Order: sequence, then C-alpha cells, then structure tokens
Amino acid sequence: MGMDSLSIDPLARLRKRRSAKWRTFPDDVLPLPVAEMDFPLAEPVAKVLREAIDRSDTGYAAPTRDLADAVANYARRAWDWSIDTDGIRTVADVGIGMVEVLRRVVAAGDRVVISPPVYEPFSWWIREVGAHVVEAPLADAPSSDASEGWRLDLDALESEFSEGAAAYLLCNPHNPMGLVHRREELTALAELADRYGVHVLADEIHAPLVLPGAEFVPFLSVSQEARRWGFSFLSASKGWNLAGLKAATVITADPAPKRYVDRLSPHSLYRTGHLGVLATVAAFNDGDPWLADVVDTLDHNRRHLDALLTELLPAVRYRHPDAGFLAWLDFRALGWGDDPSAHILDTARVALNAGHRYGTSGIGWARLNFGCSPQTLTEALTRIAAAS
Ligand SMILES: Cc1ncc(COP(=O)(O)O)c(C=O)c1O
Repeated sequence: MGMDSLSIDPLARLRKRRSAKWRTFPDDVLPLPVAEMDFPLAEPVAKVLREAIDRSDTGYAAPTRDLADAVANYARRAWDWSIDTDGIRTVADVGIGMVEVLRRVVAAGDRVVISPPVYEPFSWWIREVGAHVVEAPLADAPSSDASEGWRLDLDALESEFSEGAAAYLLCNPHNPMGLVHRREELTALAELADRYGVHVLADEIHAPLVLPGAEFVPFLSVSQEARRWGFSFLSASKGWNLAGLKAATVITADPAPKRYVDRLSPHSLYRTGHLGVLATVAAFNDGDPWLADVVDTLDHNRRHLDALLTELLPAVRYRHPDAGFLAWLDFRALGWGDDPSAHILDTARVALNAGHRYGTSGIGWARLNFGCSPQTLTEALTRIAAAS
C-alpha cells in the first residue's frame, strides 16, 4: 500500500488523456484545476470496463439492484451508516440529481441558501430551476494557523432560513477547501431545517476521500430531523475518478423526501451511463484497497503541499484540507489582484481555478488540485513561487 503502488503515469502519458483536465490548456501549462485525479484507474473498475467493451456491452443501464446494494454495503463498511436500499435512486450525476430534486422542492422565485466559498455549480443549479441564490458564507476564514479555519455559520443560516428559504445546499466535505463538517454542526443544521421547513440537499460526493484525522458524518445519519428534510447525493465519481461515466445516487431515509424522489422521471435510469453503473458497482464493492492507496497518497500530498507553501510561498494562507484533493489558497498578501489564477497562468504556466467564481469571498483566492504526483506538485509550486 502507499504511494508506490499507485505508480502515477509521467506527465507525457497523462497528456495523452482526452478528458477536460488535459485538453483545456496547451502543453506548457501544468493543469491543476478540473477535479479529476491523475492516478491510474482502480484495477477492479478497469476490469469490468474492459470486459464490457470486449462484449460490445454498451447499451442502456439495466434496472437491477446492484448499484443500490453496492452503495448501501459501502456506506455500512465505510461510515457505519445503514441505508434502506429502497431509498436509493440512480441518476446520471450529482449535478443532475441536485437539479431534478430542486425542481420538485422549490418553486420559481424561491430562495435557496448556499455557504460560499463553495463549489461553483451550486449557484448555477439554483438558477437553472428559476430560484434565487442566497449566501450564508462560511465563518472563520483561516488565519496563520493552517490547522484551523472555516465552519458553517449557524447564525447566518438561521437568519436566512427565518426569512423564508425553500432549500439549503450542503457541501460535505465542503469543496473548495476540503472541510468536513462536524456532527454537532450537522445536527444543529438539521434542527434549523426542521424549525423553518427547509429542505437540505447534501452533496456528499467527496466523502469516500476523507483523509486520516477527520471523520465523515453522513447528514442523514445525524437525526430524525435530518432524515425528514434531507437528501444525500453520493457517487464514485470523485473517489474513484469516474466523472465521465455518469452514474450517481440520490438517497432518502424518510417517506417525506422520498415522495419527491419518487416523482423523478422513470426514465432517469436510462439517462444514466451503463458503463458508469458497472464501474460504480465495482468501485464500491471492490475498490477499497485502491481507495486506501489514494487516501495515503493524498495525505502525503497535503503534507507535501504544507511544506512547499511554508518554504516557497509563506505569505499564502490556507487551511490544511481534511478531505479530497483540493486546496483553497489565499494569495491576497502577494498583490496578484482579484484573480491570482490569471497571473499564475500567465507567468507560471500553472492552471488553477479562479477563486472569485466560488462567491465574492473568493476574490484573491485560487483552488489547486493536488490529486497528482508529488513531483507535479513540487513543479507547480516552484513555478508559482518563481512568478512572484
Ligand atoms: C462538491 C461537488 N459536487 C458535484 C461535483 C460534480 O459531480 P457530478 O459530475 O456527479 O455532477 C463535483 C465535482 O467536482 C463536486 O466537487
């Protein structure tokens, strides 16, 4: 186990990938934005995909219980969370699942709350259903101590909920800084949701990638209030790097939210990728050893990133991530303007995500993807430091 067993491909080979991360920028740019990882596919996943191709098995996803069973078994193993498989519904991806559920729980013009800085598409999804985006930003931006910073602002949430909100989009672990919300906060959020009648759509896509030292608490596991108001969205697309294959799940654990999911189009299964379902079942059933290697590698990489920042860019503030492969970096002290990613792309030829897209509190920040080799990370940070 550990980093060596992942044997990450050299850059020249990674550049042959045809996915968004590798086709968006010219070859002199190190791409560290799009949330794809550079690791080789888990062998059990690669095997089912190869076998499907060999059978020319590229039709529609079949109406089986395989995916629901695999997700429920994984949730029990990984988080001691028991899910009734009747409450697990297949959708094409988390974004589509979120939008389809939003369509059913909000009306045009309703207010939907998010906690920026947060994954940029949250606000697109809300606008897509004709609702208004309302911000209750995270509290406690990190100061100089990289082990501290960021939490849900329960007072701000209560204030927005009390003014009439139809839904809240929870991100746990929270992209872009890899924050794992604590059980007490989730319990308090569920109480607020129940008091003010707010549906909670919990995007838990990064949960399989929680790193040592942090504990992922599934929202629906915290209380009856959470189950009454909550929807969880889970997939293997971040954990096992399957985003292009299109398979995800929406989970409910109470008849009230399940009624909304039951109204999803009966066609949603046929809109899901057949290869995605096969790969996701293999990932959740047989992907634990590979995932353990990835978690080791990411744990190593985040410590490597801490060391590189301390040595090369000490003015950049950030909070050491608890989960995933994303780091949220505050470049404001360097005077690189509202969008440091533009300066970094121009001068260092390293691509990061522009922080201002994650909400106004992201002005002067940028998001870096460390799901790569330690060498790529060193190269990226060395180039960025030389640009200052
Ligand atoms: C928090 C979060 N939600 C959703 C997604 C996208 O998921 P999907 O491709 O299943 O829509 C991502 C991708 O990076 C993400 O970080």
